[in-house]
Amino acid sequence: MMLKKSKFLGIGSYLPKRVVTNNDLTAFMDTSDEWIRERSGIETRHWVEGTTTTSDLALIAAERALENAGVKKDEIDLLIVATLSPDHDFPGTACFLQEKLGIRAGVPALDVRQQCSGFLYGLSIADQFIKTGMVKKALVIGAEVHSKGMDLTTAGREVSVLFGDGAGAAVVGVCDDVVSDKDSQIFSTHIHADGNFARELWVKAPSMTYSTSRLPEEAFANKDTFPKMNGKTVFIHATRRMPEAIQEALAANNRKIEEVDLFIFHQANLRINQMVAKQLGISEDKVFNTIQKYGNTTAATIPIGLADAVAAGKLKKGMLVASAAFGSGFTWSSALFRW
Ligand code: UT7
Repeated sequence: MMLKKSKFLGIGSYLPKRVVTNNDLTAFMDTSDEWIRERSGIETRHWVEGTTTTSDLALIAAERALENAGVKKDEIDLLIVATLSPDHDFPGTACFLQEKLGIRAGVPALDVRQQCSGFLYGLSIADQFIKTGMVKKALVIGAEVHSKGMDLTTAGREVSVLFGDGAGAAVVGVCDDVVSDKDSQIFSTHIHADGNFARELWVKAPSMTYSTSRLPEEAFANKDTFPKMNGKTVFIHATRRMPEAIQEALAANNRKIEEVDLFIFHQANLRINQMVAKQLGISEDKVFNTIQKYGNTTAATIPIGLADAVAAGKLKKGMLVASAAFGSGFTWSSALFRW
């Protein structure tokens, strides 16, 4: 069977309106603008208000991506939502989004639970389905509402200053017209995990590991409902795995790093991305960062980065783009594509 190729057809993002500065955080916890900027590069992040959920953010990002692609929602035959902050434990957020977006009944709706690597995992899944001819057009979304799930006291500051809410969406479709490697296409995607580090960045509760219920009183007493992170371990592995994943994507396609026009890395920490750039020997002006404005929006950082890069005129048709992510799981991933 001749495998087909997929490509990006459109991109969109949505950040909730409320902007929270580093100084705003000092109202809840002992932290400072200086500490947050120096250690992470973050200046502001966006937080939802009221009852807004992850699928609400995903909805607007998806509508924008469909419009950008010039694709009607009835043409979508696969819906993927990557998130670690689902609307509900089950069913998946993709099902709630399917209803809100009005994607026709029968279209498969899939949640990806691979945290910071979630968007590239989702892209990889969509790419495989498109390659084999099972799907013609897919919506791949990364969306998160972190602000309602974090410990906003001093005890949780190492985690809670880093994360923000937001969503990004891509329409990915089959390309029937690829004649050369200069045409828009996804060359390859690469996904990995190492569960030996599953508890280095995780949220314990709700969990079947309690004896009495999924969410006993002890879970609240121990603050098990809040994410915990071993920041130093995550940092060390991120700066090793992301360069590795980029090299893997280049090697798979016989490409040299100098040929890449733009790098869109996951946005966990500006210092991580500066170290990754240094290790790869690439100039920082080829790396598009958004963490200063949005913080870490986990599964949403890469599609938000693509949308912002297009809006800023940094990402143009025909450019060769390399993307990589690393996060909880541990999971890591990469993709090489022609925009
Ligand atoms: O998407 C993947 C998810 N996450 C990541 O990739 C995060 C990876 N890790 C990191 O980005 C960094 O490790 C952090 C930004 C989380 C921390 O930076 P660091 O330079 O490794 O700081 P540290 O853990 O060495 O902490 C230094 C000090 C500690 O105080 P003591 O023990 O030296 O007195 C912390 O208690 O900074 C303190 N601290 C804070 N101070 C003010 C920790 N968080 C804060 C805070 N504000 N928010």
